[in-house]
Amino acid sequence: MITGKPLLTVEQIQSKVSSLADSISKDYDGKEIVIIGLLKGCFIFMADLVRQIRVPVVIDFMIASSYMQTTTSGEVKIHCDIREDIENRHVLLVDDIIDTGISLNLIRERLLMKNPASLKTCVLLDKKERRIVDVPVDYVGFEIPNEFVVGYGLDYENNYRNLPYIAIFKRAI
Ligand code: IMP
Ligand code: MG
Repeated sequence: MITGKPLLTVEQIQSKVSSLADSISKDYDGKEIVIIGLLKGCFIFMADLVRQIRVPVVIDFMIASSYMQTTTSGEVKIHCDIREDIENRHVLLVDDIIDTGISLNLIRERLLMKNPASLKTCVLLDKKERRIVDVPVDYVGFEIPNEFVVGYGLDYENNYRNLPYIAIFKRAI
């Protein structure tokens, strides 16, 4: 169930997405960006973000899931890979949320092996308290507390992605 009022309202999200897009547009001035979204969670954030970016963009997606191993390194399974050739191109990896950092770190390392000209990362939400792997994140929307959140693309068992705002999810007891 969804608790109380939104953790982040539609207005707060839209204003943050605009400022992220603004920073990205300035940083990549005169360049083209290959923006790679991690599905499914990124789909709404990415759609809103790219429509406000003012430099040329090429869009691609990946579907991946990570599994925690006995060590903190984990392993990532790629269900659907990118189709763009990213060698010598500027890549921006976009995800909905960074939690332990395991998924983003593994995918980032995998993309680096393809020799992009540059590789930056962008997440809407950062649960910093939970970080296990120290992965560089270049653009962060909001730092949030250690709570499970849903909405604006984020799910609990594939539900609630369509909520226009972000809310804390608690299991009904
Ligand atoms: P990490 O590898 O632990 O950083 O996990 C990141 C992934 O876990 C995200 O891309 C989400 O799919 C999922 N995740 C982590 N926290 C939440 C949450 O609070 N709500 C929904 N999904 C989450
Ligand atoms: Mg995800």
